[in-house]
Amino acid sequence: MNHVLPGLEIQYVKGCARSKMKMILTSRLLSLSLAWVMLLVFGMSYGKWSEVIEEVSVPVTLSREIIIPRDLYQESFEVVFDSETRDLWQKPDQVLEVAALEAGMTVADIGCGEGYFTRRIASIVGSEGLVYATDIQKEVLDRMQESLPAELTSVVHPILAGDSELGIPQAVDMVFLIQVLGEVANQRQFLKQIMSIMKPQAKLVLIDSKHLTDRQTGYARPVNLSRLLQELEKTGLTPAEPPIHFLPKQFFLILKKKNHYQSQIDQVDQTP
Ligand SMILES: C[S@@+](CC[C@H](N)C(=O)[O-])C[C@H]1O[C@@H](n2cnc3c(N)ncnc32)[C@H](O)[C@@H]1O
Repeated sequence: MNHVLPGLEIQYVKGCARSKMKMILTSRLLSLSLAWVMLLVFGMSYGKWSEVIEEVSVPVTLSREIIIPRDLYQESFEVVFDSETRDLWQKPDQVLEVAALEAGMTVADIGCGEGYFTRRIASIVGSEGLVYATDIQKEVLDRMQESLPAELTSVVHPILAGDSELGIPQAVDMVFLIQVLGEVANQRQFLKQIMSIMKPQAKLVLIDSKHLTDRQTGYARPVNLSRLLQELEKTGLTPAEPPIHFLPKQFFLILKKKNHYQSQIDQVDQTP
């Protein structure tokens, strides 16, 4: 049985930790050079990684199925993903503003990695709020903790999650799932688990690559966003906002539980 959502069936290779990136970069230096030659041949090289990515990224549409050799896309993406230039294309402040993150909220940053978003989320929710930062990799979680400034250590609660165990002990106001869903094997079950820890009015901020790499073929393809949204609806999640388009390399959805009005009615019914 295929557990991957049809719009997201093309997965990129698991793991974005810095150590893994370095390993990949070292071992693939040669193919990277080859990628540059190919980019020149295609007339797409502008001299900056960010521009390279812009060039090979195409809008997510139903009709276009452009296949991009991994050396041209995936390698380039990995180089910039874990680099200091991430702010330029990740636009974290804008993301958190659009998500309407507020002081005092209880938040889950699921698949927090080394805490790129965790630190920023924690500084906004502040000491009145709480961030459950989860990851399945212990060493990554440790690095996330080490990266926290002293004033945020009490705001962030690190949780070592299992593949099918979120480990989050209470319902939250907002969930961040950034560059994680494509790595998860059973995406429907994972999303159902996430929904179970969302308060009725909670938002799920879902950001992932516009292109994911097929594990078998090694080729990157655009994510089919319309199909993904249909599958999310079937899972019980619906857009809380129209899709947001200011991120050049990623799709950005803000979702809510489809039945949150029904949940409210149920709660009223259960109140004595
Ligand atoms: C590409 S990184 C993104 C990290 C972070 N969200 C960011 O944007 O910088 C994906 C992370 O998700 C973690 N991950 C993968 N599957 C997970 C799961 N089922 N539960 C929690 N974390 C998971 C990986 O270990 C990895 O650290």
